[in-house]
Amino acid sequence: MGPTTDPNRVIIFDTTLRDGEQSPGCSMNLGEKMEMARALADLGVDVIEAGFPIASPGDFESVQAIAREVYGPIICGLARCNQADIDRAAEAIKDARRGRIHVFLATSAIHREFKLRMTPAEVIKRAVEGVERARGYCADVEFSPEDAARTELDFLSEVVENAITAGATTLNIPDTVGYAVPSHYAAVIKHLKKTVRGIDKVVLSVHCHNDLGLAVANSLAALTEGARQVECTINGIGERAGNTALEEVVMALRTRQDYYGLSTGINSRHLHPVSRRLSHITGMAVQRNKAIVGQNAFAHEAGIHQDGMLKDRSTYEIMRPEDIGIPRTELVLGKHSGRHALKQRVTDLGYHLTDDQLNRLFIEFKKLADKKKEIYDADLEALAENQLQAGASLTWALVGFTSTAGTGSQTSAAVSLRLADGTVKRDAAIGNGPIDALFKAINRITRVEVKVVDYLVRAVTQEIDAQGEAQVEIEYNGKRTRGRAVSVDVIEASALAYLEVINRVASRQLRDRLKPTDHIPQEVVPATT
Ligand code: KIV
Ligand code: ZN
Repeated sequence: MGPTTDPNRVIIFDTTLRDGEQSPGCSMNLGEKMEMARALADLGVDVIEAGFPIASPGDFESVQAIAREVYGPIICGLARCNQADIDRAAEAIKDARRGRIHVFLATSAIHREFKLRMTPAEVIKRAVEGVERARGYCADVEFSPEDAARTELDFLSEVVENAITAGATTLNIPDTVGYAVPSHYAAVIKHLKKTVRGIDKVVLSVHCHNDLGLAVANSLAALTEGARQVECTINGIGERAGNTALEEVVMALRTRQDYYGLSTGINSRHLHPVSRRLSHITGMAVQRNKAIVGQNAFAHEAGIHQDGMLKDRSTYEIMRPEDIGIPRTELVLGKHSGRHALKQRVTDLGYHLTDDQLNRLFIEFKKLADKKKEIYDADLEALAENQLQAGASLTWALVGFTSTAGTGSQTSAAVSLRLADGTVKRDAAIGNGPIDALFKAINRITRVEVKVVDYLVRAVTQEIDAQGEAQVEIEYNGKRTRGRAVSVDVIEASALAYLEVINRVASRQLRDRLKPTDHIPQEVVPATT
């Protein structure tokens, strides 16, 4: 059940909010997921896999909210092949204009034997029951034989054929552990096309992990054999080495249209802004030399290349930066720029701000323009991010701080924080350097103890008066969380980034205390997928 009947149209199934979000340090709260879902809809993805509703009340809530409020793409919820999972997924997506249930069950011998302890016949029976139950709720059902790339080919064909007979409308072939190589994966797709009855009536989909760095190559190889849906994530985030990077597949198909003859519905000018939004939200930086969206992806350093570029861009450039939404010129606004220009630029950068947020942003913009001559996109992004964070219902907000540091003297920090009910609390601490002292003072006030595993400060832009960006990664209860903030004062940026993670931990603690666990029977608490 694709969005189009064009045989050369590739369906882009985005799983940033499910497989991507599940990777360490990439968890998002409800507001952040809503924001990403809206950005994905603007980008033009065909399907948003919004989460795994049985996994937690938070996951259910976000899939439900996205199903209710995000229009355009099909909204999909993941479920294992059991009644509780499928019922929960169906409930979560029921208000979507177009909803999909995605059921999965492992099929490889290793998974059958060691994880499921099921015979091949039992696996087929469970898969069929799962698909049938999902079809009872929804006409659009996807089935995934997990670890398909390591499944015996004939058994894989048998499972797929049974899933189609049971009513699956999309058949996804996951390379769950990133084991496939392009020629092998393409051969699996070819084999299924040749041997499975009814395969031409469904959409054949691919889902690759990047353990060998081949997820994009494998996905493209599968398309040459007739797959027509690619499951992927923004910036390639996902379990371990990640999933297929959406921006890379889309730009490969577009740039090499001559070779593949395939198209997508993606508005490529949104690729760069969406990539930036995700890395701001998760605090997960994009590697500088990453294809398409890395900071160096369009930088030409070698003299011979620069010379060629000046003569004709096509000598060394296969894609134009503006085609993926990188502005032709970075310098955008200054002290005299008006509200309208600001609104336009912030919208072009992919932000959906309310009028109130825009008004506050304009005030902050003018203040910044007084301190800094030139305002770059990165500065505007930082201001817009601050507005979005200010709108979130924070447990703790920074009122003020002082910090003392100097050669040979004891470093200390005093901090005031405000609780959501207005109460202000103050405390001070000494530490090994001003940041350590600051974080310790925050810990004393909030009584949240976390382990800082990474801390980074960098300039947002390149001038001497640039704003500083601080990123903090912490571990709490075995789970990693990142925070990020920007300010002209790097110590303030550090305090705000640290408070962001403390607030995430505090709201997780609150959610855990309130969690209605009784609706999730113990035996269906999800394993990692
Ligand atoms: O990698 C995988 O097998 C998955 C499935 C749930 C599709 O993520
Ligand atoms: Zn996966």
